[in-house]
Amino acid sequence: GKSIFKNIYHAVMDTPTKSYTTKITIVGVGNVGMAIAHTILTQDIVEELALIGTNFDKLQGEMLDLQHVAAFLPRVQIQADTDYAITARSNLCIIAAGSRQNPRESRLDLLQHNLKIFTSIVPKLVEKSPGCLLLVVTNPVDVLTYITWKLSGFPPNRVIGSGTNLDSSRFRFLLADYLNVNAQDVQAYMVGEHGDSSVALWSSISVGGVPILSFVTNKSEEFEQQVLENIRKKVVHSAYEVIRLKGYTSWAVGYSVANLARSLLRDQRKIHPVSLLSKGFYGIGDDIEVFLSLPAMLGRSGVLSVAQITLTDVEKERLQNSAKILWEIQRQLNI
Ligand code: LAC
Repeated sequence: GKSIFKNIYHAVMDTPTKSYTTKITIVGVGNVGMAIAHTILTQDIVEELALIGTNFDKLQGEMLDLQHVAAFLPRVQIQADTDYAITARSNLCIIAAGSRQNPRESRLDLLQHNLKIFTSIVPKLVEKSPGCLLLVVTNPVDVLTYITWKLSGFPPNRVIGSGTNLDSSRFRFLLADYLNVNAQDVQAYMVGEHGDSSVALWSSISVGGVPILSFVTNKSEEFEQQVLENIRKKVVHSAYEVIRLKGYTSWAVGYSVANLARSLLRDQRKIHPVSLLSKGFYGIGDDIEVFLSLPAMLGRSGVLSVAQITLTDVEKERLQNSAKILWEIQRQLNI
């Protein structure tokens, strides 16, 4: 019968190197990279943290400022340099380097500039940590995760993008706010592109175990559908709103990435919507090597399997649309 989870990576999947100490490298010490670094330190999941960037003084300043936290948090060896030697033997390498969108730009507009940066970053990380997990955050995250996978030569289970894990946390916040309940009791997934075409899985939403669509009664169907659609639009618009107001986003993406790091390195087998090689899942063709977010079980080997949620026809159509938009871009990159 249909199992809840599906793994088609068996043929190529491998397990990353185990090591006595746990080490994370973060490439990029801007607002996002530093929000990730500081949130990871509060999660008590690493013994070593390496920060990589291009401005040596900024790196040393951030390192000292984080080292001065030592009296308040578990002991972590923190290094920072422009030289990738300090990244050796990392279990997880997080890439948050590159330019961010300005208020008039979409995430996809950043591709050409950030693509160049990745062609220099990825080979150096892979050379120093051939057995690591790669977690991409820089936008456009889905396309850059595809590029990272191609550049790294890693099996697909060890290359993921933070993707709609962040959109899903915004989705859960807005639903929780509307229902006046704790966001941790709201289970809801956004999938597809981390961007304008991201897809809300209404059929996946449950509050305290109650499927939310069961709240929709036929007499108030239009009202409820409109409310859910307005929430979806607010999620997609969230980043643009925050960027317009404070210039960039950092805290939400920082916490969402640190949450992924914990699930991966503590082998939690938790399910997160993350950007992964989605060919063969959810009706996406085997010839389409597109990266987009699907609800995946995460552990020390990265993507362990993908949850097989039953999608409505509208959700299926929207996911295929998201895949088409991303594949159109990814296949034109001759990596
Ligand atoms: C955001 C950026 C990280 O959605 O894409 O906040």
